[in-house]
Amino acid sequence: MAVRHFLTLLDLSKEELHGIIERAIELKALRNQGVASEPFRNKVLGMIFEKSSTRTRVSFEAGMAQMGGSALFLSPRDTQLGRGEPIEDSARVISRMVDMVMIRTFGHNVLERFAEYSKVPVINALSDSYHPCQLLADLQTYVEHRGSPEGKVVTWVGDGNNMCHSYINAARQYDFELRIACPEGYDPDESIVAAAGDRVSIVRNPVDAVRGSDWVATDVWASMGQETEQQLRLKAFEGFLVDHELMSHANSDAVFMHCLPAHRGEEVSGGLLEDEKISVVWDEAENRLHAQKALMEFLQDNSN
Ligand code: CP
Ligand code: NVA
Repeated sequence: MAVRHFLTLLDLSKEELHGIIERAIELKALRNQGVASEPFRNKVLGMIFEKSSTRTRVSFEAGMAQMGGSALFLSPRDTQLGRGEPIEDSARVISRMVDMVMIRTFGHNVLERFAEYSKVPVINALSDSYHPCQLLADLQTYVEHRGSPEGKVVTWVGDGNNMCHSYINAARQYDFELRIACPEGYDPDESIVAAAGDRVSIVRNPVDAVRGSDWVATDVWASMGQETEQQLRLKAFEGFLVDHELMSHANSDAVFMHCLPAHRGEEVSGGLLEDEKISVVWDEAENRLHAQKALMEFLQDNSN
């Protein structure tokens, strides 16, 4: 057995991914029943954060504690990572001391280089290119609320960003149709779209894209690292707000998701975000905890 990493959703086979989602649902039920399991006793998760986080940090740290292990928060501000120690050296050192590593960084290649030199599983906790942990939670949430997403119509409204790329990979893994409504100039990476074949299409007009959808998702217009583009993006994304009016074109039982943090009045209306008949964002956020516990269990069981 080799070491398994989770840098994108495509690092898992379809069966493995579906198994992790089922296990996440099971772990959630066990936690609600007060049943604890501690497969990570004496194990340590290293958590490297080069960008801010609430959900990711809390869910990984709480998840490790609940499974009997512990987590180390490593910021570039107070480690040698921030003073230019090469990723390859950091990977060799850190992975000799901990049992798993999660990394939130800018360039996706940082994750790839770290994983290449790591003796233990590496998890992508968000890069500029992908956010696969969030998709585990989103998939779990859809399954819990509406059943399998296979064959459904999912619409991504907004920026062709890291979340959008992970939705494209989810469409491949779960075989759903994905429509992407983004303004020109903010398309997802062409090669990631092309690799998904005819399951994925760009539909410029949000109303056309959302029509007949079962699941609508969005995200902020300026991601971490794009703060200086905020004003430019506010203009470019005019007309891409997801609100009750836009959702009225979707199927009547469509759900709305947002990875959070949300900017009310920009990409999503406050009214829609708070409408729990449509918006499942709080379950989606909670499921980060359960889905990542299932992921960490899987990586531990399938690596040596
Ligand atoms: N959705 C998400 O990853 O949130 P954080 O940035 O708070 O971790
Ligand atoms: N696209 C956003 C997601 C935040 C969870 C970002 O990268 O900042």
